[in-house]
Amino acid sequence: MIGTNKKTFFIILFLNITFALAVNGENVFSSRQFINFDSGWRFHLGEIDSIGVLNKKYNDSTWRLLNLPHDWAIEGDFDIHNPSGTGGGALPGGLGWYRKTFYPDLSQKGKYFFLRFDGVYMNSEVFLNGHSLGIRPNGYVSFEYDLTPYLLFDKENVLVVKVDNRKQPNSRWYSGCGIYRHVWMTVTSPIHIALWGTYVTTVGLDNNQALLNIQTTLKNEEKSHGKVQLFTLIKNKKGTVVASSRSDVEMTDSLETIFNQKLKILHPNLWSLSNPYQYTVCSQVWQNGKLIDEYKTCTGVRSFRFDAEKGFFLNNKHVKINGVCLHHDLGCLGSAVNKRAIERQLKILKEMGCNGIRCSHNPPAPELLDLCDSMGFIVMDEAFDMWHRRKSTYDYAKYFDRWYERDLTSLVVRDRNHPSVFMWNIGNEVLEQWNDANADTLDLQQANLILNLGHKTSSSDNDHELNVNSLLCKRLASIVKGLDSTRPVTAACNEASPKNNLFRSKSLDIIGYNYHNSWFGSVPQKFPNMPFIVTESVSSLMTRGYYFQPSDQIQLWPERWDRPFQNDTFSCSSFDQCHVPWGNTHEDTWDKVKNADFISGQYIWTGFDYIGEPTPFGWPARSSYFGIVDLAGFPKDIYYMYQSEWTDKDVLHVFPHWNWKKGESVDIWAYYNHADEVELYLNGVSQGVRSKKDHEYHVMWRLNYEPGELKAVSRRNGKIVKVQTIHTAGDPAQIRLTADRSTLKSGISDLAFVTVEILDKNGNLCPNADNTVNFSTGKGLIIEGVDNGSPISLERFKATHRKAFHGKCLVVVKNVMGKKGIEKLTATSDGLNLCSISLNIR
Ligand code: GAL
Repeated sequence: MIGTNKKTFFIILFLNITFALAVNGENVFSSRQFINFDSGWRFHLGEIDSIGVLNKKYNDSTWRLLNLPHDWAIEGDFDIHNPSGTGGGALPGGLGWYRKTFYPDLSQKGKYFFLRFDGVYMNSEVFLNGHSLGIRPNGYVSFEYDLTPYLLFDKENVLVVKVDNRKQPNSRWYSGCGIYRHVWMTVTSPIHIALWGTYVTTVGLDNNQALLNIQTTLKNEEKSHGKVQLFTLIKNKKGTVVASSRSDVEMTDSLETIFNQKLKILHPNLWSLSNPYQYTVCSQVWQNGKLIDEYKTCTGVRSFRFDAEKGFFLNNKHVKINGVCLHHDLGCLGSAVNKRAIERQLKILKEMGCNGIRCSHNPPAPELLDLCDSMGFIVMDEAFDMWHRRKSTYDYAKYFDRWYERDLTSLVVRDRNHPSVFMWNIGNEVLEQWNDANADTLDLQQANLILNLGHKTSSSDNDHELNVNSLLCKRLASIVKGLDSTRPVTAACNEASPKNNLFRSKSLDIIGYNYHNSWFGSVPQKFPNMPFIVTESVSSLMTRGYYFQPSDQIQLWPERWDRPFQNDTFSCSSFDQCHVPWGNTHEDTWDKVKNADFISGQYIWTGFDYIGEPTPFGWPARSSYFGIVDLAGFPKDIYYMYQSEWTDKDVLHVFPHWNWKKGESVDIWAYYNHADEVELYLNGVSQGVRSKKDHEYHVMWRLNYEPGELKAVSRRNGKIVKVQTIHTAGDPAQIRLTADRSTLKSGISDLAFVTVEILDKNGNLCPNADNTVNFSTGKGLIIEGVDNGSPISLERFKATHRKAFHGKCLVVVKNVMGKKGIEKLTATSDGLNLCSISLNIR
């Protein structure tokens, strides 16, 4: 502390010691309990006696016992008749019921009990002991109920959750069904910190110090009068207190008191992409010398700005946002959230050099943001895919008017402390953007009423200025700004002209649009002094392992956006040559983004393939082709183009495989960096040296196929940088298993993702192998899911066997909670040598 006299120094020291005692480890005084509430739920799918089920005596013993998070859709079969359609992944919907009993003991009387759901898809209603606690149509927002009024002590309490996903289509992608995120119970004193009750902002930052404002919302459930003390401590990673503050707060009749404290961190460790350093803010409430509540918030100190000419700056350093869009499903695990599975996705993306995640097009799982905070990503946090006007028959538009304010508020209040969140996105391609969009929507008076726009009509209003949709945009942006003024608000538009109602509202801080590469150049003229970000780009289509020859022929699929396209293969080329008509190739887009400083960056559609939206195809295609990485988590070739551009690693990636028909003309591409040239040899004979010119991102050779060995050598100043060889593979002979981790943690439900490869007798990957592989495990392991990345496989994700697709498939295994020791995973397939690996659970 600078400039404190002896007495205050002593007080601060004393307080620090008291605080430290209070916040380290188990706290005997603290009355807040934060309990994971995932285990031991009963589940039933289908219609039941909806009144009887609320009765405590209802017999649910035949219902399935399970732990959350749970997605019932991923357990089902693909069927063209499922109402989600192929757009929703062709997996089942329906009506689901969850029940759970619990017994708070009498000693807890006087406490307040809250139940938080991180996400339930969708239309949930929660009941406690027969009383409805509320409904929540939105399937992605987090929400909390106060259980206290209906709670029984020393008796059985019954929670019932009804989840209604019968009316479909209600999504343009796979949503999943059920309580697919975590559930938490919080038990507090009557005076406590509110749900997501802190808001930490950096209000001043220079080389020597950071000034943080910490706003704390205290709840006084019983409106009791008196004083409490709010102690706020900031701890560094080692747990050392680096700043602290104490305030007396007078409790009054009001249910909520908002309190601000300013704390200084000397020589702060800044949060950045390479050093995502976080501090922990510990907020404590003391009353009559007792700690009555304690709450922790992770935060990061960083500065950033979006500049209309120069793009994005983090801590005063220019950073191009090289981001990807992600939907929330986790491939064969469905939507059931799993931190380890998200971490794997982010790790794969980070290794590619990706530094940004767009949560398309809905509030993400809290775990995703926690991981982005700790791994270093620039997140665009997104609220809606539609507003008042719908995109599919039963989507959220039905509920928007009544719920948008609450849902948007939940998102911002929940997420505004995450250092990884840099922008709010209030809508993706909402139909209200189009300048003719007023035609079939509301007039201003209706809109004012229904949408609560708060607009005062005056005689000077005329049609041009009075645009309901601009006003709605303004309203949404102002809700966000009212809750967080530290981050810019944007929207992902596909009407790229200044006539766009959202742009006209002048309420967006960043011009954001999707695609329209050829318009990028005119942004500075059309939107003077406005920062710009490509909120969504590319939409190129690729099937891992499939190649169309010749590789330089561009395919625009589907030929019309509203008509599925058919061909026999249901495959799109892994050369960068196939994209949707509204999209572009990866290389074209990257070239434009890379070479224009005013473009802050882009979020590529998409990082991973996702279930649903199998553009350009219809059934039996049921998952996307857009990913840089396939649904199973295997990178497609384009991954290495980005790696060669976005990382410092030496990259040489040569493709495709070397198994073709004799004499066939085959194009060979190489992505490389850190070299001046690449030379290709076929069976020892040079096929020429190639170098990339300006604005080129790969080199190519066209050869007549003959079996044998392809060898590529990259060189800088004549010195070899990297060598890659590809051999013609023989018949499938063996299986190789490679786990992404050999040790699983016994205390949590940990996962290992095991890559399965079909090899010839010499160990070469068989690029066309589609053998069925069967899996078995020891008792300590469970098979959580299987996949192979094929968008048209109709095999179940929950199974113990899978066909290989272009030589590969994936098995995901989970440890059985509490079991320890070495466990085996074995893979067998007719006619192939079996393979086993050992996983250590400890
Ligand atoms: C965009 C849309 C995305 C996805 C993508 C496919 O227009 O925002 O959600 O549908 O098209 O190309």
